[in-house]
Amino acid sequence: MTDTPTGSGAAVRALDVRKSFRTGADQSLAAVDGVSVRIEPGRAVSLTGPSGSGKSTLLHMLGAIERPDSGSIHVGDAEITALSRRRLAAYRRGIGIVFQRFHLLPALSALDNVIAPVLPVRTDFDKRARARELLEVVGLGGREAALPSKLSGGQQQRVAIARALINDPALLLADEPTGNLDSRTGAAVVELLLNLRAERGMTMVIATHDPGLADDCDEQIRLRDGRLLDG
Ligand SMILES: Nc1ncnc2c1ncn2[C@@H]1O[C@H](COP(=O)(O)OP(=O)(O)O)[C@@H](O)[C@H]1O
Ligand SMILES: [Mg+2]
Repeated sequence: MTDTPTGSGAAVRALDVRKSFRTGADQSLAAVDGVSVRIEPGRAVSLTGPSGSGKSTLLHMLGAIERPDSGSIHVGDAEITALSRRRLAAYRRGIGIVFQRFHLLPALSALDNVIAPVLPVRTDFDKRARARELLEVVGLGGREAALPSKLSGGQQQRVAIARALINDPALLLADEPTGNLDSRTGAAVVELLLNLRAERGMTMVIATHDPGLADDCDEQIRLRDGRLLDG
């Protein structure tokens, strides 16, 4: 069994996943309320629904950033809901995550931001060489030394995408990746993501408000109040 999906796409299976948050002394809110999804390897799937419908919470559970209260999640060979802490850390390093607000480290160059996730670990590839290659792939060849503050929003998101690819993930999760971008820049980022998926074959789950982005994916998972809108 491997805990770290690499190479082409991982299958994703979530079974009756639930997650509640405490909202008061004796109140809680079911952010994700019994969701089951099955995603085939290499598919690009959008996760849509109004604000507060549970998109981020579901993505966080697929990325093992958050643990469900109940239910199970399998990614590739691994049941991530049953992994030890150490194995979970390895799992997280093996997937890619792109956030709406890019989450780049402001004091680091574009190149060092891409390297950051693998900096503390031994890799079987040359980190700097791979990071340079990835910046090239996302159209930022020549901007390796630039600080995030010197890059446009679209460029910063491209750095974040390159960073998410540093471990050649079998699963890429993106949480509203175009949410902070104007529509044209957003469309370019979507095109980049879908091209990367076509070239590399990773499975992709993208939470989005953007109907165009959702249409461009192979399938759509629709959430409302923490539940699937259609089974
Ligand atoms: N850490 C948290 N603490 C309390 N409530 C939360 C937390 N995260 C999410 N929620 C609540 O869970 C629901 C789903 O949130 P979220 O998954 O962020 O939805 P979306 O990404 O679709 O906007 C919302 O009502 C939100 O307020
Ligand atoms: Mg969200």
